[in-house]
Amino acid sequence: MLRARVTLDGDFFVGEVDPRLFGGFAEHLGRCIYGGLYEPGHPSADEDGFRTDVLELVRELDMPVMRYPGGNFVSGYNWEDGVGPPEQRPRRLDLAWKSLETNRFGTDEFVAWCRKAGSEPMIAVNLGTRGPDAARSLLEYCNHRGGSAWSDLRRANGHPEPYGVKLWCLGNEMDGPWQMGHKTASEYGRVACEAAKLMKLTDPRIELVVCGSSGRGMPTFGAWETEVLDHAFDHVDYVSIHTYYGNADDDTPAFLSKPDEMGDFIEEVVACADSVAARRRSSRRIMLSFDEWNVWFHSHGGHKEIPDWSVAPPIVEDDYTVEDALVVGGMLITLLNHCDRVKIACLAQVVNVIAPIMTVTGGPAWRQTIFHPFAQASRFGRGSVLRQVVESPRYDARGRPGVPCLKSACVLEPATGGLTVFALNRCLQEELELTVELRALGNLRVAEWLTLRHDDLKAVNTRERPDNVAPQAAEGASVAGGTLTAVLQPASWNVLRLSQAG
Ligand code: AHR
Repeated sequence: MLRARVTLDGDFFVGEVDPRLFGGFAEHLGRCIYGGLYEPGHPSADEDGFRTDVLELVRELDMPVMRYPGGNFVSGYNWEDGVGPPEQRPRRLDLAWKSLETNRFGTDEFVAWCRKAGSEPMIAVNLGTRGPDAARSLLEYCNHRGGSAWSDLRRANGHPEPYGVKLWCLGNEMDGPWQMGHKTASEYGRVACEAAKLMKLTDPRIELVVCGSSGRGMPTFGAWETEVLDHAFDHVDYVSIHTYYGNADDDTPAFLSKPDEMGDFIEEVVACADSVAARRRSSRRIMLSFDEWNVWFHSHGGHKEIPDWSVAPPIVEDDYTVEDALVVGGMLITLLNHCDRVKIACLAQVVNVIAPIMTVTGGPAWRQTIFHPFAQASRFGRGSVLRQVVESPRYDARGRPGVPCLKSACVLEPATGGLTVFALNRCLQEELELTVELRALGNLRVAEWLTLRHDDLKAVNTRERPDNVAPQAAEGASVAGGTLTAVLQPASWNVLRLSQAG
């Protein structure tokens, strides 16, 4: 049997987990909004037209922050189209996704939905086809108390209290040639800086996310971050980072190594941000907002039969497998282990569009495979992440030699002294005996062990079989002499919960 060993010390931490690490993302794309969050006439719809079956599942994911309205969509969006009497709102061509946007759901509906979902809104402004002026108007509409044109419009629309939206994104993926209003780093850096200044003058309590690269593979990656931050460093709080992984070549060992690449990516963006700080002799640290991350490849190139300019077309809908859930679990572990610099992360997206929740329009909603590791990490991954010394057998993956079979994160809940060990066995054939040395962590005992695995790595959940892939209770883990021992099944995601024994 393979063996891996983790050593922990109760005094050695990576950092505190910001709860916003478990955020989500809702874009006007496909059936995310219409048929996902919002579907008046659906049997579960509430008085606002929100699907309560979806709301319940989102609450189960417990996403403290929700990014909106895009994504690529935001770079052509006129936010004014989405407020005011619904019957007077214009229908517009959404050039990002070649869809027809009815604007029936807009900023006011989104904020109302967030209140019900238990999420803090994180709103992106359009720095593609628009600029600083529209950005500061939207902020004034949302956050100013009243007595100005835009805040009085909000009040006239039936919302007397300011929304107090704290988190704002300065555009989306502005380095991408596909983006409406795509810019060079110097063009974007200037616009982002000026938008940031106007927005912080409008409401100094807000926090701002400036666009980093849309992916590590972009030719401008690295140079983009440093040039943009050279312009905007003093006015922004976070730099964004996005990644999606896939298994188009059906190479599962390589796919399972992707969460390690995500860790490299984070460390590179941190290095870029800190290099800008160093040149300025600044002790200020720009934190990271990983505001798009997920597995995405099943639906690539698969929308040819859907006519352009449809309303809420069923596009970008991935049916997630067990191995996708393992990769999402690994990505969550990467985020936890970088919680000292990644303060916000948004699983992209929340419903139907590359999402943990799937619905049938007019029909039921269910949990996709990736729902489970996210829900567990969101529930048990809040607290202090401990430093680990990991000894693990390794395997060579295509493009990445020496991948540790074990990927793990250990989170201490300071109030109770409880410890959660998230552990992924990436070996496809063999069991992995995991031992965790629990130094200076009190008298822990195993309270619960949940595992996610399936004989078929391509198994999915469907409308007919919504619980085909779900976590199961496992047995056989124990603590003796300050050492936790558990034998992890091949290709399995594990959540070992330890509590203080009296
Ligand atoms: O999440 C889907 C899309 O992926 C977003 O609109 C865009 O920002 C990214 O490229």
